[in-house]
Amino acid sequence: MPLLDIVTYPDPILRRKALPVTQWDDHLQTLINDMILTMYAAPGIGLAAPQVGVSSRLFVTDISSGRRPQDLIVLINPEILSMEGEIEELEGCLSVPGFQEKISRAARVTIKGVTRRGEEIILTGEDLLARAFQHEMDHLEGKLFFDRLGKIKRDLLKGKLRRAEGVRGR
Ligand code: NI
Repeated sequence: MPLLDIVTYPDPILRRKALPVTQWDDHLQTLINDMILTMYAAPGIGLAAPQVGVSSRLFVTDISSGRRPQDLIVLINPEILSMEGEIEELEGCLSVPGFQEKISRAARVTIKGVTRRGEEIILTGEDLLARAFQHEMDHLEGKLFFDRLGKIKRDLLKGKLRRAEGVRGR
């Protein structure tokens, strides 16, 4: 099974609001399998469909990086039901390689969605899992983690990203 290419900033697909998944077909199952393998290979703890060039409301996450099979979560058409508390931690993104920033996020998140088998599911995540849920939900809304920084830090990071882009483009 081939690994998928991970789209990086400033690709415009990362800024698009993803569309709901409507068909639970083989194509969807293959996409999910490939996204899981791509996430583990990266390695990363989460991957949203827009990051592999598919503007669909779907993400995979595993905060154990493949060490605990029960930690693998596939969520389709997710919606956040509630958020509580606040924690600031370093956060990065496979689509913004090489950069991490302290981002403030809710500490506890309850999310609902549909599994790859088409069953409705409600999950509550704390700390790192809560962060992963919020980060991946942001991807489905066309948001990136640095959008949540204050203006000064965000502009500084965008300057660094432009310079990194220039170096890669040479
Ligand atoms: Ni990300």
